[in-house]
Amino acid sequence: MIFETHGHYDDEQFDTDREQLLEEFQRQDIRYVMNIGANIATSKASVELAHQYDFIYAAIGTHPDDAPELSDAAIEMYRQMAVDEKVKAIGEIGLDYFHEDVPKEAQIHWFRKQLELAEELKLPVVIHSRDAAKDTMDIMKEMQGRLCGGVIHCFSYSTEIAREYIKMGYYIGVGGVVTFNNGRKLKEVVEAIPLTSIVLETDSPYLSPVPFRGKRNSALNIPYVAKEIAALKGVTEEEVYDVTFKNSLKLYRMEENMQAEA
Ligand code: NI
Repeated sequence: MIFETHGHYDDEQFDTDREQLLEEFQRQDIRYVMNIGANIATSKASVELAHQYDFIYAAIGTHPDDAPELSDAAIEMYRQMAVDEKVKAIGEIGLDYFHEDVPKEAQIHWFRKQLELAEELKLPVVIHSRDAAKDTMDIMKEMQGRLCGGVIHCFSYSTEIAREYIKMGYYIGVGGVVTFNNGRKLKEVVEAIPLTSIVLETDSPYLSPVPFRGKRNSALNIPYVAKEIAALKGVTEEEVYDVTFKNSLKLYRMEENMQAEA
């Protein structure tokens, strides 16, 4: 069974065939999908999608690129939205210094506010961090002991930093980049860290694995990622699916649901 821990299936790139695609997921043993909001509009869309499909859950939050849309009223709206039982996490939130459109101070301010919301709501966090390793780590350390875990999504930093996050109780999100020829750094991270700290993700519609690099991504491509992780770690693909599935349930605190269903 596959747990797709990070996709954006509300994206307009899925408008033409969303229904067929999501039905295909269920035939392909994709047991759960966490649909991730990246701003107010897509967070609302995530919750809507989660209500249309039993196997889809939602994360709500605003990505650093969209931080200027936030206000205290917006945070209050997220607080209200999070009451919904299908909302399982706050994210994706974080820091992105690759694009310099949004001033760092604004990104940091709203990252902290959303982390505080996650603390208050006792929800795990989905962290986006690009070219902002130090500031992200500093803030996560500040918050250490106050949050109930989360995932460092689309992990792009060093093995040392991965180990630090794992020590703090976070999962490392691994997707299509691990199959790229220039994905060496991530391959090294995957080799070095325990499988019990990895979750599978796509960031669909982006970051398709080889051989579909550049095309629209979906959870149907996760086997290419699992195969690469299995090769790097010298385990079977089944083991990758089993362990990461359990990791994902722990990450999103869905273990009790599973037991109730069983
Ligand atoms: Ni994403």
